[in-house]
Amino acid sequence: MDDNRILILDFGSQFTQLIARRIREERVYCEIHPPTVSLAWIREWNPRGIIFSGGPASVYDTDVPTADRAILALGVPVLGICYGMQLLAHLEGGRVVPGQREYGRAEIDVQDPDELFAGFKAGEKAVVWASHGDHVEAPPPGYRKLATSDTLPVAAFRAEDRPIFGVLFHPEVAHTPRGAELISNFLFRICGCQPTWTPGSFIEDHIACIRQQVGDAEVICGLSGGVDSSVAAALVHRAIGDRLTCIFVDTGLLRKGEREGVERAFRQHMGMRLVVVDAAAEFLGKLAGVEEPERKRKIIGETFIRVFERAASDGGADARFLVQGTLYPDVIESLSVRGPSATIKSHHNVGGLPEDMALELVEPLRELFKDEVRNVGRELGLPEELVGRHPFPGPGLAIRVLGTVTEEALATLREADSIYLEEIRAAGLYDDIWQAFAVLLPVRSVGVMGDFRTYENVVALRAVTSRDGMTADWYPFPHDVLGRVSSRIINEVHGVNRVCYDVSSKPPATIEWE
Ligand code: XMP
Repeated sequence: MDDNRILILDFGSQFTQLIARRIREERVYCEIHPPTVSLAWIREWNPRGIIFSGGPASVYDTDVPTADRAILALGVPVLGICYGMQLLAHLEGGRVVPGQREYGRAEIDVQDPDELFAGFKAGEKAVVWASHGDHVEAPPPGYRKLATSDTLPVAAFRAEDRPIFGVLFHPEVAHTPRGAELISNFLFRICGCQPTWTPGSFIEDHIACIRQQVGDAEVICGLSGGVDSSVAAALVHRAIGDRLTCIFVDTGLLRKGEREGVERAFRQHMGMRLVVVDAAAEFLGKLAGVEEPERKRKIIGETFIRVFERAASDGGADARFLVQGTLYPDVIESLSVRGPSATIKSHHNVGGLPEDMALELVEPLRELFKDEVRNVGRELGLPEELVGRHPFPGPGLAIRVLGTVTEEALATLREADSIYLEEIRAAGLYDDIWQAFAVLLPVRSVGVMGDFRTYENVVALRAVTSRDGMTADWYPFPHDVLGRVSSRIINEVHGVNRVCYDVSSKPPATIEWE
C-alpha cells in the first residue's frame, strides 16, 4: 500500500462516512479513525492529508473529543469540517462562540478563492449545507478568512503559512452542490494525492496480503449467496485457488433458484471447490411452531453455526482460516465514538463466525464500502446478477413468512417473490430500488374466483429506497407495474387471492416485517 492516502479523524458526525465516500469516489484511499489515535501512530500511518470531521460536541463542553495540537505541526495538510473547524480555531487561539445556530441551506460568500476554493471567483456566492450550534467569530492569529456568510463572520479560513483549512459547512453532503470541488481541491491541489485507488489496484494489493496471511494453509468460507461473501470468496480464490473450500448451507429458507444460482456461479463458472449442505429439514424442524421473530432469528443463528461446523469438519479438511465478508461500515461501527444504540432486531448474520471455532479470520473487504465491493466483484468476473443484488437477510424467508414457518408457506412465498422480482427487472427498475421482496401475511381474506368464493392468503409487497438500510422510503412504483405484479401473483400462485403494497417508511416501520 502506498502513502497516497487520507486520514479522517472522526469526531462523531453522522456524515463522517460520507466524507470517506466522497474521497474514495475521487479514487483516493482513506480511512476513518477515532481522534484518540496517538501522534506516533499518525506519523507511522503517514497520511498525505488529515480531515477533522464534524461532530455533535461544543469545544466548550467538558469531556469532548479533541486533537493533539502537534498534528498541526506535522507538515501534513489538514481540513477541519464544522466541529473540526471549530476545534482548529479553538486549538489555535481563535474565537469560537455559541449561539447563532444554522441548520440546513445557507449561502456563503467566497472572498478569497485560494487553493481550497480554486475554481470559484472572488465575491461568488455558493449554496452550502450547514449544521452547527457554535461558530467561529474571528480566525486564530496567523489565519485568514476565505469565506463569510449572511449570518456568519467566518465560514471558511486557512492558516497563512501552512496548509491548514477549515470550513464551517459540510462539503461532503449532496446539499452542498459544489462540495465535491472543495474536496477534490483539498486532495489533489493541497495534499498532492494521485487518483490511484481502483478495483484493479485493490485486487492486486490484496491477493498479495491474503497469500502472506494464510501461507500454505487450507481456508474455508461460508457462502451466503449475497454480494459480500461472494466477492470475498472470489478474491481469496484468485489468491490461493483450490486451497479455498466454500460451504453453502441450504437452510430451506432461500429464495427460488438461489441454491442453483450459487452452484452455477461458483462451481461451474469459477471452478471453485463448493460444498453444498442440504439442511432444510433440520432448520424447518427447529422452527416448527415458532412465531416470535426474535426466537426465529436465534434458532436460525444457532442452527447455522452447528450445521456449518459439521460441514467444515467434514469437507474443509484442516482449515486454519475462515473468510468473512466484513465491510468497512461494520468496522467503523465497531470503532465508533458514538455510543451503542438500542437493539431493534438482533441481526443474526447467518454466515457469521461460529464463536468457538478456532479459526483465524481472513477479511479481505474490511476497507471497502458496498459499492466498491460490487466493483471489485465485477472486476473479478462475478456475474452482474450476483454483484448487483439487493441485500437479503441472514434468516431468509423465515422472517418474511410472518408467524409460523411451514414448507407450504415458504413455497407460496417463493413463487410470489419470484414473480415480483421478475416484473421489477422487466420494468428496468431493479437498480433503482435498495431492496424489494414479498411477505406472506398470517391472515386469510375472502375473494371470488370464477363463480366461487375463495378464502386464501394475502401477500404484501415491499420495496424501499435507502442509502444504507438505516433509514428508508417506500418506493413509488408506477401503477401499471404494481398492477401487473398483483394480477400475475393472484393468477399464478396457488393459494393467494389478495396483494397489498406496503407504503411505510423507516422509521417508524422497519424494512423487514419481522
Ligand atoms: P430492518 O428490517 O431492521 O432491516 O429495517 C435493515 C436491513 O437489514 C436486513 N436485516 C437483516 N440482515 N440478519 C441479516 O443479516 C438479520 O437478522 C436481519 N434483519 C434485517 C434487512 O433485510 C435490511 O436490509
